[in-house]
Amino acid sequence: MKAVPRGEAPPEGLAPRVLVVGAGLMGSGIAAQCALAGFPVTLEDISDAFVDRGLGRARRALEHAVDRGEIDGSRRDAAIARIARQVGLEGTGEAEVVIEAAPEDLTLKRTLFAQLERLVRPEAILASNTSSLPIGSIGSDLRAPGRLVGLHFFNPVLQMPLVELIAGARTDPAVAARAGDFAARLGKTVVRSADSPGFVTSRALAVLVNEAARMLQDGVADRDDIDAAYRLGFHHPMGPFELVDLVGIDTTVAILDVLYEGLREERYRACPLLRTMVADGKLGRKSGQGFYPYPSRGPGRP
Ligand SMILES: NC(=O)c1ccc[n+]([C@@H]2O[C@H](COP(=O)([O-])OP(=O)(O)OC[C@H]3O[C@@H](n4cnc5c(N)ncnc54)[C@H](O)[C@@H]3O)[C@@H](O)[C@H]2O)c1
Repeated sequence: MKAVPRGEAPPEGLAPRVLVVGAGLMGSGIAAQCALAGFPVTLEDISDAFVDRGLGRARRALEHAVDRGEIDGSRRDAAIARIARQVGLEGTGEAEVVIEAAPEDLTLKRTLFAQLERLVRPEAILASNTSSLPIGSIGSDLRAPGRLVGLHFFNPVLQMPLVELIAGARTDPAVAARAGDFAARLGKTVVRSADSPGFVTSRALAVLVNEAARMLQDGVADRDDIDAAYRLGFHHPMGPFELVDLVGIDTTVAILDVLYEGLREERYRACPLLRTMVADGKLGRKSGQGFYPYPSRGPGRP
């Protein structure tokens, strides 16, 4: 699909309202991106504290865009003003585009979309930011599964130009086309993937990170040397441990489990080291500790 440059905000009134469900790492970035492109956004989560944390993250993401010289202060302020807050799904009837960014858990996502289908208007697009779960499975209980599509954003959302568009077997092609147009209006380049576990990017990421963790576990090299090898040997902007800390080690293990479940190949079996880290609460940047320490972040911190 064609890339479009990051555009100016559409005239107010022409921009459909976006509901972002889940105000975590991804939801906050997606909300900031939609608001920056001129869409009125509601950022929703299950508690005030989570919504506050997400709004704080969205503001910081926009602030960093100012620091990088990408936008000026007035665009930042206008974007922040477009983001409304919400706790719980009641009152979501106005949304025309829903982007779900709740944890990577099939049962949770199924339940959420079953609720959302009843709450939002029939023509609203229902999109999941899932990294790996089949769109067909997420939508299997929907009365109108044709409304559901995958829109897979990347972290940090404002800086990453890609969105993967996944149409399930039952996704209405017109819905997929509208979702692709929407992502293009955010300034993203859209690639299409089949509804196969992990799509293109998570399947590639999972193997890359899993292999690095296995090498560390086997004593082939230490953390810093493995990261340096990937960065300097392959021109990757981040080493695999820096990357998995950014993505979330829990999210990465969840992706590997979906891949292993769906494709039954040994290379997708999550390395025990990754599982142990999740069990120990070492989830990466978001928990304050992953393969690297992040002393200024972590539980209870914004
Ligand atoms: N982390 C990444 O780099 C990345 C990249 C692309 C896609 N994803 C996908 O995006 C989704 C979210 O990942 P994340 O990293 O932002 O996770 P996260 O843990 O940072 O955030 C998830 C948020 O969802 C909220 N939540 C939980 N149950 C909810 C419910 N019933 N209703 C509304 N909100 C609920 C949580 O409170 C939390 O704030 C996952 O499907 C993940 O696979 C993640």
